[in-house]
Amino acid sequence: MDLLSVTSEIYPLIKTGGLADVAGALPAALGAHHVAVKTLVPGYPQVMSQLRDTQVVIEYEDLFDGSARILAGRAAGLDLFVIDAPHLYNREGGPYGGASGDYADNWKRYAGLSFVAAELSRGKAQGYEPDVMQAHDWQSALAPAYVAYGGGRRKAKTVMTIHNLAFQGQFGRDIFWKLQLPPEAFSMSGVEYYGGVGFLKAGIQTADAVTTVSPTYAAEIRTREFGMGLDGLLNVRSDRLHGILNGIDTDAWDPGTDPFLHANYRLSTIKQREENKLALETRFGLNRDDGPLFGLVSRLTWQKGIDILSSCIDPLVNAGGRLVVLGSGDDTLESAMASAAWRHPGRVGFERSYDEPLSHLIQGGVDAILVPSRFEPCGLTQLFGLRYGAVPVVSRVGGLADTVIDANLAAVEAGVATGVQFSPVSQHALLGAINRTIALYRDERVWSRMRRNGMKFDVGWHASAAKYVKLFRELLGQATEDDDSDS
Ligand code: ADP
Ligand code: GLC
Repeated sequence: MDLLSVTSEIYPLIKTGGLADVAGALPAALGAHHVAVKTLVPGYPQVMSQLRDTQVVIEYEDLFDGSARILAGRAAGLDLFVIDAPHLYNREGGPYGGASGDYADNWKRYAGLSFVAAELSRGKAQGYEPDVMQAHDWQSALAPAYVAYGGGRRKAKTVMTIHNLAFQGQFGRDIFWKLQLPPEAFSMSGVEYYGGVGFLKAGIQTADAVTTVSPTYAAEIRTREFGMGLDGLLNVRSDRLHGILNGIDTDAWDPGTDPFLHANYRLSTIKQREENKLALETRFGLNRDDGPLFGLVSRLTWQKGIDILSSCIDPLVNAGGRLVVLGSGDDTLESAMASAAWRHPGRVGFERSYDEPLSHLIQGGVDAILVPSRFEPCGLTQLFGLRYGAVPVVSRVGGLADTVIDANLAAVEAGVATGVQFSPVSQHALLGAINRTIALYRDERVWSRMRRNGMKFDVGWHASAAKYVKLFRELLGQATEDDDSDS
């Protein structure tokens, strides 16, 4: 089976968040199930500079106001199609914006990505015609619409994968006429959304199947509270909506071999882990003591509950905890973290940056990793935490609810707990969770059992990749009877 995966970011070439991790890990995960994945990505400078063995497969004189070439090639072990279109993607800033905010022509940049995806799906590149096209998030979400309205013979089935419903790609109606879609596409059953154009809405509406990245989030987004205005449509399409949990790349994230750790360790050599904690204490100038060290690695945004965490830092410190924070994002939340570090020298450390190696060291050194999100489609940091023996302390939403077993009395008694959950997402509940974590930490037997359970928990891709394959086969009318995985 051939899959064309369409994404605006992919690890290790370009990353702003978990989407890149997932897009980067899926090819190998699906490859193990005999699905050959090629990924279509924009030709950002970070991608162009790493691309090897290139071959031009399509040329455009005019792709959204400039000439473009579609290149097939390889980079970092990935099979890629890359859109070499300097007028759209050759910019100095990040993938979505620069110092002065989001690029004003993002609609055009990602309509271009989606348009090319549909062309590739239709066999426009000689010798390549995928069976399934998977569009990730709003940036690729017009692709299923371009396929649906493309007319003619159509082989590829389309899957819209939602990683985050908060980012929808909504634009004014004036752009519609530049999208090269037929007039009938500007309707409720097409790309029209509240009088304008909605990219994600269009993808959900027109794809053959819709997936999101955890079963709980798949249920949540059908409610008004989490649906971000799309709950009505998602309910209409609920028979085609599947929640398939993300995994993590267990080679890139392996405490036994991770080059970013001061000391590698496994369950049998867990004592070595202490060295990573010492390295963190040194790096952040923390005092040493016998209380737990909490960590946070996150975009600093409302979604992630950072304002709530910030209101809990003084009591966390008073209760004997310490905290290291790695993240960047909203100005006010960055300031709140900087101020906490300033108020608590030796007990709270803050690094305002995006630092992949440090994110690994934090997972490999802290006692507990905090994920207090208001909503979390899947969340990867708690999965890294489980694998690295950093006990996750999480809000009970989305993928966090699906991947952490709360240390309630029954779970501790049964010896199955892997972390601490709290609900609702409030200061009071988070404080309760922090205090509970500190108490659990002080009970060495219980704590080491939790950590051990977490490190043994299956956070890899195998089971979820099988679910994707089952879905793809169903769409292609090839479901086999011996397939017992469900989605
Ligand atoms: P989201 O995609 O919503 O940000 P996820 O938990 O799915 O959340 O993925 C976040 C990814 O980004 C993880 O790989 C995490 O380690 C990484 N990350 C977030 N902030 C930073 C940072 N400041 N430095 C390094 N890595 C970060
Ligand atoms: C999004 C979500 C996050 C998820 C990631 C990868 O960025 O916010 O929860 O883990 O996508 O699917």
